Amino acid sequence: MAKARPNLTVIGAGYVGLTTAIAAAMQGHQVHVIETNPERVADVRRGRAPFYEPGLEEALARSLRSRRLSIDTHNTSVPLAPIVMLCVGTPPLPSGAADLTFLDQAAYGVGRKLTPGPSTIVVVKSTVLPGTTQTVVHAAVKRGADPKARFEVASNPEFLREGSALKDALEPDRIVVGADSVTAARVVLSLYKKVKCPKITVNVRTAETIKYAANAFLALKIGFSNEMANLCERVGVDWYDVIQGLAPDPRIGGLFLRAGAGFGGSCFPKDVAALRSAFRKEDIPSPILDAVLDGNDRQPLVAVDLLRQEVGPLQGKRIALLGLAFKPDTDDVRETRALPILRALAAEGAHVVCHDPKAGPNFRKIEPTATLVPSVAEALRGAAGCIVQTEWDAYRRITPRRFRELMDTPVVVDGRRTYDAAKMKRAGIRYRAIGLGRATME
Ligand code: UGA
Repeated sequence: MAKARPNLTVIGAGYVGLTTAIAAAMQGHQVHVIETNPERVADVRRGRAPFYEPGLEEALARSLRSRRLSIDTHNTSVPLAPIVMLCVGTPPLPSGAADLTFLDQAAYGVGRKLTPGPSTIVVVKSTVLPGTTQTVVHAAVKRGADPKARFEVASNPEFLREGSALKDALEPDRIVVGADSVTAARVVLSLYKKVKCPKITVNVRTAETIKYAANAFLALKIGFSNEMANLCERVGVDWYDVIQGLAPDPRIGGLFLRAGAGFGGSCFPKDVAALRSAFRKEDIPSPILDAVLDGNDRQPLVAVDLLRQEVGPLQGKRIALLGLAFKPDTDDVRETRALPILRALAAEGAHVVCHDPKAGPNFRKIEPTATLVPSVAEALRGAAGCIVQTEWDAYRRITPRRFRELMDTPVVVDGRRTYDAAKMKRAGIRYRAIGLGRATME
């Protein structure tokens, strides 16, 4: 356990909280994490991360050894640091709006721990709609706090991607700090002294808005690519060739244009829906956000369509589904496109055999009846077709020959452009990929 008094308290040891805490400890801060779940606390103390994230456990072990990181439940005797970061979940409600219960509870808990003395800065890292830090977090801290305790709220959104979260935390492309006083901004920025990147200081509401605008814009880029790819498919153009002609234009850029089975994860679908709920609340139309979400719901079915074009009616056919995680290098299955693909295949009577290098147990929780097998070979053996939903490295390494040897009919539908189309075709695979354009294969 760390001995020194912390200069940063992190509330919540989820994916954002734990990664942020470890990165801060690696940058020399003394960090204390408060987590409600005692099992998670015990795991983290033993050096075990509660989710799979490359490099995180090694970094956790180093941070624990250096005694810069400690973790405890709310009963901790370690006092709050001058900066407290709220990193709790804001899961979606059926309406699409974010559920702020955890945030409210966490903020109230922080309030209860505040003591009269120097002001504490309560920083919101969780993704929240403009105004929430003030209306929900400030109000909850105040509700819990001794009237003599002094505190300010601030916003410091995260831009971490699962699969590269630690690197993103250590080498961010920008830091955004939202504060309504110069002092609060300075205190939050002091956490990032060692980080070299643009640092943008704005007011709290603006920082909250930046986070939503960033995620919605990235989702929009993907949605646009998917829509274009669907046209490319019909007119015999490879969307990935089109990207080459777009990327050098700095106004467009080449990133986040990969077309495929749609975006999943805990952020894009939820954040775009939450942003849309804010438009609805203000009674402002949001046709772009509506289209992004609708298109994303349809996109997994494009993979099923391509498969049907090659295999014919799916009734009674054995189909391999490779990749259950919403993206590679994570075991996260939230909003994974594997689920609508699996359900669409099953609805047409296919017998679907699923595989994922990491996400099987989590997928089982959301789809208990799914058939999961422990190896790629078992998934492919005897299959009439295969859909690749996650571009894991392990799948990239499957050779065309291996597909041919194992499968009954070598039909591969690539939902993430994992393979070289020409190589697959040369090897006799009936290969289809979203946005590849059928004519380009003939
Ligand atoms: C996303 C953002 O990229 C982060 O900047 C942000 O901090 C994070 O959400 C968050 O709000 O916490 P993440 O969801 O972890 O990160 O992963 P991404 O790499 O953005 O991928 C999201 C989904 O989009 C995946 O399903 C991925 O397959 C899909 N995607 C991504 C595409 O379909 N095409 C692309 O070109 C890129």
